[in-house]
Formats: sequence, structure tokens, C-alpha cells
Amino acid sequence: MTEPMAALRGYVQFLHERDGVRQVKLSRAARQGLATLAGKTKAAPVSNPPVAAVHDRRPAAAPVAPSRPAPVRQPILNPAAPVQSEPPIEITGSSKIEQLRHLEERAKACLKCSHLVSRRHNVVFGVGNPEAKLMFIGEAPGEEEDLQGEPFVGRAGQLLTKMIQAMGLTREQVYIGNIVKCRPDMPPGAPGNRKPTKQEMETCVPYLRAQIEVIKPTVMVALGATAVEGLLGPVGTIGSLRGKFLEFRGTPLMPTYHPSYLLRNQSNTEKRKVWEDLLAVMERLEMPISEKQRNFFLKA
Ligand code: URA
Repeated sequence: MTEPMAALRGYVQFLHERDGVRQVKLSRAARQGLATLAGKTKAAPVSNPPVAAVHDRRPAAAPVAPSRPAPVRQPILNPAAPVQSEPPIEITGSSKIEQLRHLEERAKACLKCSHLVSRRHNVVFGVGNPEAKLMFIGEAPGEEEDLQGEPFVGRAGQLLTKMIQAMGLTREQVYIGNIVKCRPDMPPGAPGNRKPTKQEMETCVPYLRAQIEVIKPTVMVALGATAVEGLLGPVGTIGSLRGKFLEFRGTPLMPTYHPSYLLRNQSNTEKRKVWEDLLAVMERLEMPISEKQRNFFLKA
């Protein structure tokens, strides 16, 4: 990769790659930067294609060559300083559907985490009913979610879908979102997913806060420690928090184990713990609970 291309890397949205030719879309900031540069150097006007092909013959997942940025005056950063909290995202539109659509458009155009932008296939905004009484909050998209553009569609997601159905609901009746909307990048070829960093969570969580403000669910479920931390900060371990309602901006929040924990620990004891958390949620929502539902996972 040539040096100017390496420098542009954070400003392009990766679309797809075939035979080593990458199709990328330049961000507005990159296009404006190029136009300004062209104006200053009195070069011929820069054409402004929304989509550009970038020839990069290295294997798709090869590590990014470090770019050598032009010398600019940088503020001195204190690595120990707390991460700056992001301002709230403005909510526009006259209906919940419209407000969510506007938020989704903004999230899809978001370029704040350039290292995630350059690798994402999709921004995984959220899915479900804008009028949902119940909202599930996860951590971040995994590989499958990144490819499909929908939260919780991989193995853990299939288990979550079963849990929702066991409550007598469908995915279409609830709303499902994540703290972070882009897949946390992994080293090339590395299996699995990684937890988002504190910085990634702080940067992205305003989208989720805005989603919550629009949807106004009656109850929320935080799936795993990262979901709790993303909303409330480091308040405790998931083992100590689960089973008791917390509160996020006045809305009851039930912390429970992430479905991927249940995939790793398939004992009825652990399944029952999560199920009891969901029974408490059903009670809070004044949902009917059958005898059969009350007894799920009671037998060892
Ligand atoms: N795990 C999460 O926390 N969120 C997803 O969307 C998928 C897996």
C-alpha cells in the first residue's frame, strides 16, 4: 500500500474485495480534504467519485502498514486520563420509526473509530419493535452479525432467540441492540471475537442511549458484564449483579449472563439462573407465566 493510501485508510469505508482489488467509499471528510488540497495546490479539480477502487495486492487480512502522518501539532495526551464522554446524539424525526431511522443513518455514516470502520462490513445498529416494552442489550457484533448487519444472529444469538421464545415472545416484539455497533476488530486470521475497549464503548454508547430514549422500554436486560459496564460503568461482576434489578435513567435493568456464557456452561444450574432473571423480567412486565415456564431447568 502506498503511503498516501495508508494515510487515507481511516477515511474510507470498505465495501468489498475481489482479486486483491478493494472497492472503497471515501468519507465526506476525506473528499473535502482532497478538494481543499487540490484548491490550495491549484491542481486540476479533484473528481469526487463516491466509490473508488483501491488496488491493494496484499492478502485481504494482512496487517495495516503503519502510516507516517504529516507532522502536526498534537495535544499532549495523558494515557491515564479518563476517556472523554461523548455528547448525546440529537434525536430528530416525528415518530419512533423515523427517529430510529435517522439514528441508524448517523450510525452507518459514523467514522469515529477508524480502526473498526476500515474492517467492518456493516454497522449493526439494532433490530426489533420501536414500541417494544422489552429491550435486550448485548456487547458488540461478532463475525456473523458483522456480515449480516443484524445483532445476535450467530450461535449466541440463536440461543437468545430461544430464550425470547421461551418467554412467549418473538424477536419482532422486542428490541435488540448492542453497546458497540461495529465489530471489534481481530488480528488477521484470529478466531472468535474480542470485548470492545473502554474507548470504543464510550465512543459508541451515545447511539444506544439515544435508541433507549426513543424506544422507552419498560424493562431492559443487560446481557453480560460488558453490557452493564457500557450503560452504568464498572459497577460489579456479572455474577454478583445478576438477578437484581438495577436502573438506567429510570428504567429497570436486569443484568444476566450473556448467552455465550451459557454456550460454554451448559449445566441446568446456570441455565436456571438466567431463566430466573427472565422470569423476574416477565413478572415486572406483568406477563402471564405458566406452570411449565416456572419450572424450566429445575431438574438437574
Ligand atoms: N454478542 C453480542 O453481545 N452481540 C451480538 O450482536 C452478538 C453476539
